[in-house]
Amino acid sequence: MAKKVFISAGGSGIGRCIAEAFLNNDDEVFICDINAQSLEQCQKDYPKLHIYACDLAEPEQIKLMFAEAIKKLGHIDVLVNNTGISGPTIAADELSFDDWNTVINLNLNSTFLITQLAIPLLKQSGAGVIINMSSIAGRLGYPYRLAYSTSKWGLIGFTKTLSMELGADNIRVNAILPGAVDGDRVQRVLQARADVAQSSLEKVTQNALKNQSLKYFVNPKHIADLCLFLASDSGRSISGQILPIDGDKQCLS
Ligand SMILES: NC(=O)c1ccc[n+]([C@@H]2O[C@H](COP(=O)([O-])OP(=O)(O)OC[C@H]3O[C@@H](n4cnc5c(N)ncnc54)[C@H](O)[C@@H]3O)[C@@H](O)[C@H]2O)c1
Repeated sequence: MAKKVFISAGGSGIGRCIAEAFLNNDDEVFICDINAQSLEQCQKDYPKLHIYACDLAEPEQIKLMFAEAIKKLGHIDVLVNNTGISGPTIAADELSFDDWNTVINLNLNSTFLITQLAIPLLKQSGAGVIINMSSIAGRLGYPYRLAYSTSKWGLIGFTKTLSMELGADNIRVNAILPGAVDGDRVQRVLQARADVAQSSLEKVTQNALKNQSLKYFVNPKHIADLCLFLASDSGRSISGQILPIDGDKQCLS
């Protein structure tokens, strides 16, 4: 039976890829995002998709958005908490309180609020699934990204605790921890590193992959596949798990 799927920050990147995977599975999908243009493009590509433009940093906007999601979906079978910004790359003693708050607010507070609103609708499902998008920075330390790493470790406690609280309602809660994801962004970062070091893109790429077993970056489609698996019957006994998808990265460098 078609699942009702809610994905936060689903207008582009990993979130869009997850939305496409569920849509291609004939599921009903609702996405929200701050970028109205990306949402419109998604809607053009997938006319059946439900979209909503809002700033997830604003609790009042989340509440309005959620009321619309309830109207469209009725109940929720799968909640994908995909929202996450990285914030500045800066030493801890130079990180401003405002920047700290911006990251914590979007990555944790908005995720809390959406989840709290979704819990009664997930209970109606009878077999609800929550997937929290953490990061390799939620498993390892990440110098110069203190707020990001703290928020992603925070999602681990969020996942573990909710799994225990919601298990009796047959709601499963897991976290996915991607490593660096392939795409334009990684390529731009590597090219910039190569330019600064007066090195080649190939050498810088090899260096970036040296502390990981599989010698390629994570494809966002593989993350979407993991979401499909977790949301499917095949994943029905899996809850409270912390699932790295990073080619077995041993350390961040
Ligand atoms: N890309 C990676 O290498 C990587 C690695 C590990 C974990 N992650 C995590 O995966 C998730 C998705 O990452 P991504 O790289 O696809 O992100 P991204 O930077 O491509 O952004 C995804 C979406 O978030 C939206 N967004 C940003 N601020 C918003 C706001 N205030 N309100 C509503 N929407 C907003 C953007 O418009 C965009 O469509 C994040 O939680 C990220 O931390 C990403």
